[in-house]
Amino acid sequence: MTTATSLISTLPGRFYTDPEIFRSEQERIFESLWYCAVRSADLDRPGAFRTVQAGRENVLVTRTRTGELRAFLNVCRHRGARLCTESAGEVRRNLQCPYHAWTYGLDGTLVAAPNLQKMPDIDRTEYGLVKVALREWLGYAWICLADEPPSFEDTVIGAVVERLGDTVTIERYETEGLTLGRRISYDVAANWKLIVENFMECYHCATIHPELTDVLPEFADGLAAQYYVGHGAEFSEEAQGFTVDGSAGFGRLPGITDAQDRRYFAVTIRPQVFVNLVPDHVIVHRMFPLAEDRTVVECDWLYAPGVVASGADLDKSVELFHRVNVQDFDACERTQPAMASRAYRKGGVLVPAEHHIGAFHGWVTEMLGKGSEQRNP
Ligand code: FES
Ligand code: FE
Repeated sequence: MTTATSLISTLPGRFYTDPEIFRSEQERIFESLWYCAVRSADLDRPGAFRTVQAGRENVLVTRTRTGELRAFLNVCRHRGARLCTESAGEVRRNLQCPYHAWTYGLDGTLVAAPNLQKMPDIDRTEYGLVKVALREWLGYAWICLADEPPSFEDTVIGAVVERLGDTVTIERYETEGLTLGRRISYDVAANWKLIVENFMECYHCATIHPELTDVLPEFADGLAAQYYVGHGAEFSEEAQGFTVDGSAGFGRLPGITDAQDRRYFAVTIRPQVFVNLVPDHVIVHRMFPLAEDRTVVECDWLYAPGVVASGADLDKSVELFHRVNVQDFDACERTQPAMASRAYRKGGVLVPAEHHIGAFHGWVTEMLGKGSEQRNP
Protein backbone atom coordinates (compact mmCIF):
# COMPACT_ATOMS: atom_id res chain seq x y z
CA MET A 1 0.00 0.00 0.00
CA THR A 2 1.31 3.42 -0.80
CA THR A 3 0.34 6.54 1.04
CA ALA A 4 0.53 9.92 -0.56
CA THR A 5 2.94 12.29 1.14
CA SER A 6 1.51 15.76 1.49
CA LEU A 7 3.97 18.48 0.71
CA ILE A 8 4.10 21.75 2.59
CA SER A 9 3.34 24.94 0.67
CA THR A 10 5.78 27.80 0.49
CA LEU A 11 4.75 31.39 1.08
CA PRO A 12 2.55 32.79 -1.71
CA GLY A 13 4.34 34.77 -4.43
CA ARG A 14 3.18 38.17 -3.18
CA PHE A 15 5.39 37.79 -0.08
CA TYR A 16 8.30 38.33 -2.45
CA THR A 17 6.85 41.15 -4.58
CA ASP A 18 4.48 43.25 -2.46
CA PRO A 19 6.06 46.57 -1.34
CA GLU A 20 3.63 46.66 1.61
CA ILE A 21 4.87 43.31 2.91
CA PHE A 22 8.45 44.47 2.45
CA ARG A 23 7.65 47.65 4.39
CA SER A 24 6.23 45.53 7.18
CA GLU A 25 9.36 43.35 7.19
CA GLN A 26 11.52 46.47 7.45
CA GLU A 27 9.58 47.59 10.49
CA ARG A 28 8.98 44.29 12.26
CA ILE A 29 12.12 42.39 11.34
CA PHE A 30 15.05 44.60 10.28
CA GLU A 31 14.21 47.49 12.62
CA SER A 32 13.28 45.20 15.51
CA LEU A 33 16.02 42.57 15.68
CA TRP A 34 19.81 42.70 16.00
CA TYR A 35 21.22 43.52 12.57
CA CYS A 36 24.85 42.94 11.59
CA ALA A 37 25.98 46.31 10.25
CA VAL A 38 29.74 46.67 9.82
CA ARG A 39 32.97 44.85 10.47
CA SER A 40 34.57 46.48 13.51
CA ALA A 41 38.06 46.50 11.96
CA ASP A 42 36.78 48.51 8.99
CA LEU A 43 36.60 51.40 11.46
CA ASP A 44 40.24 51.07 12.36
CA ARG A 45 40.88 54.51 13.87
CA PRO A 46 39.14 57.37 15.61
CA GLY A 47 37.16 59.46 13.16
CA ALA A 48 36.40 56.56 10.80
CA PHE A 49 32.72 56.09 9.96
CA ARG A 50 30.45 53.86 7.89
CA THR A 51 26.81 54.21 6.95
CA VAL A 52 24.45 51.29 6.33
CA GLN A 53 20.80 50.83 5.51
CA ALA A 54 18.86 48.98 8.23
CA GLY A 55 15.18 48.70 7.45
CA ARG A 56 13.96 52.18 6.53
CA GLU A 57 16.72 53.92 8.47
CA ASN A 58 20.19 54.93 7.42
CA VAL A 59 22.54 54.28 10.32
CA LEU A 60 25.91 55.90 10.97
CA VAL A 61 28.56 53.95 12.85
CA THR A 62 31.59 55.87 14.16
CA ARG A 63 34.84 55.13 15.97
CA THR A 64 35.13 57.70 18.77
CA ARG A 65 38.25 59.46 20.05
CA THR A 66 38.33 57.00 22.95
CA GLY A 67 38.19 54.03 20.59
CA GLU A 68 34.63 52.76 21.04
CA LEU A 69 32.12 52.17 18.28
CA ARG A 70 28.88 54.16 18.40
CA ALA A 71 25.79 54.06 16.19
CA PHE A 72 23.33 56.85 15.39
CA LEU A 73 20.52 57.60 13.00
CA ASN A 74 22.23 59.38 10.10
CA VAL A 75 19.93 62.38 10.39
CA CYS A 76 20.89 65.94 11.29
CA ARG A 77 18.78 67.19 14.20
CA HIS A 78 18.45 70.65 12.68
CA ARG A 79 16.30 70.22 9.59
CA GLY A 80 16.91 66.57 8.89
CA ALA A 81 19.56 66.46 6.17
CA ARG A 82 21.48 63.22 5.85
CA LEU A 83 24.60 63.91 7.86
CA CYS A 84 27.10 61.56 6.19
CA THR A 85 26.36 61.07 2.53
CA GLU A 86 29.23 58.65 1.84
CA SER A 87 29.08 54.96 2.69
CA ALA A 88 32.50 55.21 4.38
CA GLY A 89 34.96 57.89 5.32
CA GLU A 90 37.09 59.45 7.98
CA VAL A 91 36.88 62.82 9.71
CA ARG A 92 39.61 64.49 11.70
CA ARG A 93 37.58 65.49 14.68
CA ASN A 94 33.84 66.06 14.15
CA LEU A 95 31.01 65.31 11.77
CA GLN A 96 29.61 68.36 10.04
CA CYS A 97 26.25 68.54 8.32
CA PRO A 98 26.68 69.63 4.70
CA TYR A 99 23.49 71.77 4.85
CA HIS A 100 23.89 74.46 7.57
CA ALA A 101 27.04 73.13 9.20
CA TRP A 102 25.76 71.87 12.51
CA THR A 103 28.68 69.95 13.95
CA TYR A 104 28.58 66.78 16.04
CA GLY A 105 31.25 64.97 18.00
CA LEU A 106 31.97 61.33 17.15
CA ASP A 107 29.97 60.45 20.28
CA GLY A 108 26.94 62.19 18.76
CA THR A 109 26.95 65.33 20.94
CA LEU A 110 26.09 68.59 19.23
CA VAL A 111 29.31 70.59 19.54
CA ALA A 112 28.74 73.65 17.37
CA ALA A 113 26.30 75.37 15.07
CA PRO A 114 26.74 78.65 13.21
CA ASN A 115 25.20 81.56 15.14
CA LEU A 116 24.41 79.28 18.02
CA GLN A 117 25.22 82.15 20.40
CA LYS A 118 22.24 84.07 18.98
CA MET A 119 19.91 81.17 19.67
CA PRO A 120 18.23 80.43 22.96
CA ASP A 121 20.25 78.05 25.13
CA ILE A 122 19.84 74.60 23.62
CA ASP A 123 20.72 71.34 25.29
CA ARG A 124 23.60 69.96 23.25
CA THR A 125 22.96 66.40 24.33
CA GLU A 126 19.25 66.57 23.66
CA TYR A 127 19.94 67.91 20.18
CA GLY A 128 22.73 65.45 19.61
CA LEU A 129 22.40 62.56 17.17
CA VAL A 130 19.80 59.91 17.99
CA LYS A 131 21.61 56.86 19.44
CA VAL A 132 21.15 53.32 18.18
CA ALA A 133 21.98 50.25 20.31
CA LEU A 134 25.27 48.55 19.33
CA ARG A 135 26.98 45.30 20.34
CA GLU A 136 30.20 43.84 19.04
CA TRP A 137 30.48 40.11 18.40
CA LEU A 138 32.57 37.97 16.01
CA GLY A 139 34.42 41.14 15.02
CA TYR A 140 31.27 42.84 13.74
CA ALA A 141 29.13 45.69 15.06
CA TRP A 142 25.50 44.60 15.42
CA ILE A 143 22.91 47.34 15.78
CA CYS A 144 19.32 47.30 16.93
CA LEU A 145 16.77 50.00 16.14
CA ALA A 146 14.13 48.71 18.59
CA ASP A 147 13.31 50.91 21.58
CA GLU A 148 13.89 47.82 23.70
CA PRO A 149 16.29 45.50 21.89
CA PRO A 150 15.73 41.77 22.38
CA SER A 151 18.37 39.84 24.35
CA PHE A 152 21.51 39.55 22.19
CA GLU A 153 22.51 36.43 24.13
CA ASP A 154 19.23 34.66 23.36
CA THR A 155 18.45 35.83 19.86
CA VAL A 156 21.92 35.92 18.30
CA ILE A 157 24.43 33.89 20.32
CA GLY A 158 21.81 31.36 21.46
CA ALA A 159 20.65 30.83 17.88
CA VAL A 160 24.20 30.04 16.79
CA VAL A 161 24.70 27.53 19.59
CA GLU A 162 21.39 25.87 18.69
CA ARG A 163 22.33 25.60 15.03
CA LEU A 164 25.90 24.38 15.50
CA GLY A 165 25.22 22.00 18.36
CA ASP A 166 27.01 21.95 21.72
CA THR A 167 30.19 20.28 20.52
CA VAL A 168 31.18 22.88 17.93
CA THR A 169 31.73 26.34 19.25
CA ILE A 170 32.04 29.30 16.98
CA GLU A 171 34.45 30.86 19.50
CA ARG A 172 37.15 28.36 18.51
CA TYR A 173 37.48 30.13 15.14
CA GLU A 174 38.34 33.34 17.04
CA THR A 175 36.72 35.36 14.29
CA GLU A 176 37.37 38.64 16.14
CA GLY A 177 41.10 38.23 15.61
CA LEU A 178 40.96 37.27 11.91
CA THR A 179 41.95 39.60 9.08
CA LEU A 180 39.87 40.48 6.05
CA GLY A 181 41.43 38.74 3.06
CA ARG A 182 38.79 39.61 0.47
CA ARG A 183 35.41 41.31 0.32
CA ILE A 184 32.97 40.98 -2.56
CA SER A 185 29.67 42.80 -2.72
CA TYR A 186 26.82 41.28 -4.76
CA ASP A 187 23.84 43.35 -5.87
CA VAL A 188 21.14 40.70 -6.20
CA ALA A 189 17.83 41.31 -7.99
CA ALA A 190 15.87 39.10 -5.60
CA ASN A 191 13.86 39.31 -2.40
CA TRP A 192 15.94 38.69 0.72
CA LYS A 193 13.82 35.64 1.70
CA LEU A 194 14.74 33.81 -1.51
CA ILE A 195 18.39 34.25 -0.52
CA VAL A 196 17.79 32.96 3.03
CA GLU A 197 15.75 30.00 1.77
CA ASN A 198 18.44 29.12 -0.75
CA PHE A 199 21.13 29.23 1.91
CA MET A 200 19.09 26.99 4.20
CA GLU A 201 18.75 24.07 1.80
CA CYS A 202 21.14 21.88 -0.10
CA TYR A 203 18.55 20.27 -2.36
CA HIS A 204 20.04 22.45 -5.13
CA CYS A 205 23.68 21.62 -4.39
CA ALA A 206 23.99 18.68 -6.79
CA THR A 207 22.46 20.74 -9.61
CA ILE A 208 24.24 24.06 -9.35
CA HIS A 209 27.36 23.65 -7.17
CA PRO A 210 29.79 21.23 -8.93
CA GLU A 211 32.91 22.68 -7.24
CA LEU A 212 31.33 22.65 -3.77
CA THR A 213 30.05 19.08 -4.05
CA ASP A 214 33.51 17.96 -5.20
CA VAL A 215 34.92 19.16 -1.88
CA LEU A 216 31.83 18.25 0.20
CA PRO A 217 30.41 15.09 -1.44
CA GLU A 218 27.68 14.67 1.19
CA PHE A 219 26.13 17.88 -0.16
CA ALA A 220 25.21 16.09 -3.37
CA ASP A 221 22.67 14.08 -1.34
CA GLY A 222 20.63 17.24 -0.73
CA LEU A 223 20.19 16.54 2.98
CA ALA A 224 18.44 19.08 5.18
CA ALA A 225 20.48 21.56 7.20
CA GLN A 226 19.51 19.87 10.50
CA TYR A 227 21.35 16.77 9.36
CA TYR A 228 24.65 18.64 9.74
CA VAL A 229 24.04 20.06 13.23
CA GLY A 230 26.90 19.11 15.54
CA HIS A 231 29.16 17.43 12.99
CA GLY A 232 29.12 19.55 9.84
CA ALA A 233 29.99 18.17 6.41
CA GLU A 234 33.19 16.23 5.84
CA PHE A 235 35.69 17.13 3.11
CA SER A 236 36.16 14.49 0.41
CA GLU A 237 39.24 12.27 0.80
CA GLU A 238 40.83 13.86 -2.26
CA ALA A 239 40.31 17.44 -1.07
CA GLN A 240 43.37 18.85 0.62
CA GLY A 241 41.60 22.07 1.50
CA PHE A 242 38.45 24.13 1.04
CA THR A 243 39.51 25.55 -2.34
CA VAL A 244 38.00 25.69 -5.80
CA ASP A 245 40.11 22.76 -7.05
CA GLY A 246 40.57 20.92 -3.76
CA SER A 247 44.22 22.03 -3.52
CA ALA A 248 45.71 22.77 -0.11
CA GLY A 249 44.45 25.81 1.73
CA PHE A 250 46.25 27.25 4.75
CA GLY A 251 47.15 25.89 8.18
CA ARG A 252 44.18 25.32 10.45
CA LEU A 253 43.19 28.15 12.76
CA PRO A 254 44.78 27.69 16.21
CA GLY A 255 41.59 26.93 18.14
CA ILE A 256 40.24 24.28 15.76
CA THR A 257 39.90 20.81 17.28
CA ASP A 258 40.35 17.53 15.42
CA ALA A 259 36.56 17.20 15.44
CA GLN A 260 36.27 20.48 13.52
CA ASP A 261 39.16 19.82 11.15
CA ARG A 262 38.37 18.94 7.51
CA ARG A 263 34.76 19.88 8.10
CA TYR A 264 32.46 22.64 6.97
CA PHE A 265 29.83 24.20 9.22
CA ALA A 266 27.23 26.79 8.26
CA VAL A 267 24.88 28.89 10.34
CA THR A 268 22.06 31.26 9.42
CA ILE A 269 21.61 34.00 11.97
CA ARG A 270 18.20 35.52 11.39
CA PRO A 271 17.42 37.80 9.79
CA GLN A 272 20.42 38.68 7.58
CA VAL A 273 23.67 36.85 8.38
CA PHE A 274 25.21 33.59 7.16
CA VAL A 275 28.45 32.29 8.61
CA ASN A 276 30.51 29.52 6.99
CA LEU A 277 33.25 27.90 9.04
CA VAL A 278 36.12 25.85 7.62
CA PRO A 279 39.40 24.96 9.33
CA ASP A 280 41.50 27.72 7.74
CA HIS A 281 39.01 30.55 7.22
CA VAL A 282 35.61 31.99 8.02
CA ILE A 283 33.18 33.46 5.49
CA VAL A 284 30.61 35.97 6.72
CA HIS A 285 27.70 37.17 4.57
CA ARG A 286 25.71 40.23 5.58
CA MET A 287 22.54 40.93 3.62
CA PHE A 288 21.16 44.42 3.17
CA PRO A 289 17.59 44.15 1.90
CA LEU A 290 16.96 47.40 -0.03
CA ALA A 291 13.65 46.68 -1.77
CA GLU A 292 11.22 43.79 -2.22
CA ASP A 293 13.24 42.74 -5.26
CA ARG A 294 16.75 43.93 -4.40
CA THR A 295 19.25 42.77 -1.80
CA VAL A 296 22.90 43.70 -1.51
CA VAL A 297 25.02 40.92 -0.01
CA GLU A 298 28.44 41.77 1.34
CA CYS A 299 30.67 38.72 1.73
CA ASP A 300 33.89 38.74 3.77
CA TRP A 301 36.61 36.06 3.62
CA LEU A 302 38.54 36.13 6.91
CA TYR A 303 41.93 34.49 7.49
CA ALA A 304 44.57 34.24 10.19
CA PRO A 305 46.45 37.57 10.27
CA GLY A 306 49.73 35.82 9.34
CA VAL A 307 48.23 34.36 6.16
CA VAL A 308 47.12 37.78 4.89
CA ALA A 309 50.32 39.51 6.04
CA SER A 310 52.47 36.95 4.20
CA GLY A 311 50.89 37.99 0.92
CA ALA A 312 49.76 34.40 0.30
CA ASP A 313 47.66 33.89 -2.84
CA LEU A 314 44.06 33.67 -1.63
CA ASP A 315 42.50 33.22 -5.06
CA LYS A 316 41.78 29.48 -4.98
CA SER A 317 40.43 29.76 -1.47
CA VAL A 318 38.16 32.72 -2.25
CA GLU A 319 37.09 31.39 -5.64
CA LEU A 320 35.25 28.36 -4.22
CA PHE A 321 32.65 30.30 -2.27
CA HIS A 322 32.60 33.17 -4.75
CA ARG A 323 31.43 30.66 -7.35
CA VAL A 324 28.90 29.26 -4.90
CA ASN A 325 27.63 32.81 -4.29
CA VAL A 326 27.28 33.55 -8.01
CA GLN A 327 25.56 30.19 -8.61
CA ASP A 328 23.17 30.81 -5.70
CA PHE A 329 22.37 34.43 -6.53
CA ASP A 330 21.79 33.57 -10.20
CA ALA A 331 19.27 30.96 -9.04
CA CYS A 332 17.57 33.52 -6.79
CA GLU A 333 17.41 36.04 -9.64
CA ARG A 334 15.89 33.38 -11.90
CA THR A 335 13.23 32.75 -9.27
CA GLN A 336 12.29 36.35 -8.41
CA PRO A 337 10.33 37.19 -11.63
CA ALA A 338 8.18 34.06 -11.19
CA MET A 339 7.02 35.28 -7.78
CA ALA A 340 4.71 37.65 -9.66
CA SER A 341 3.42 34.91 -11.97
CA ARG A 342 -0.09 33.47 -11.66
CA ALA A 343 1.61 30.09 -11.38
CA TYR A 344 2.94 31.11 -7.98
CA ARG A 345 -0.13 32.89 -6.62
CA LYS A 346 -0.54 30.18 -4.00
CA GLY A 347 3.17 29.51 -3.75
CA GLY A 348 5.09 26.34 -4.48
CA VAL A 349 5.90 23.30 -2.35
CA LEU A 350 8.70 22.15 -0.09
CA VAL A 351 10.11 18.65 -0.40
CA PRO A 352 10.98 16.81 2.85
CA ALA A 353 14.63 17.96 2.69
CA GLU A 354 13.41 21.55 2.79
CA HIS A 355 10.95 21.30 5.66
CA HIS A 356 13.01 23.62 7.85
CA ILE A 357 12.27 26.36 5.30
CA GLY A 358 8.67 25.90 6.42
CA ALA A 359 9.82 26.86 9.93
CA PHE A 360 11.46 29.99 8.47
CA HIS A 361 8.18 30.88 6.74
CA GLY A 362 6.34 30.34 10.02
CA TRP A 363 8.80 32.69 11.74
CA VAL A 364 8.39 35.38 9.05
CA THR A 365 4.59 35.30 9.19
CA GLU A 366 4.67 35.33 12.97
CA MET A 367 6.99 38.37 12.95
CA LEU A 368 4.63 40.09 10.52
CA GLY A 369 1.64 39.21 12.67
CA LYS A 370 -0.01 37.43 9.78
CA GLY A 371 -2.12 34.39 10.56
CA SER A 372 -2.59 31.52 8.15
CA GLU A 373 -5.84 33.06 6.88
CA GLN A 374 -3.92 36.13 5.69
CA ARG A 375 -1.18 33.96 4.34
CA ASN A 376 -3.64 32.06 2.14
CA PRO A 377 -6.42 34.51 1.27
FE1 FES B 1 21.89 69.88 9.11
FE2 FES B 1 20.68 72.19 8.86
S1 FES B 1 19.97 70.25 8.28
S2 FES B 1 22.62 71.78 9.65
FE1 FE C 1 23.81 27.05 -2.71
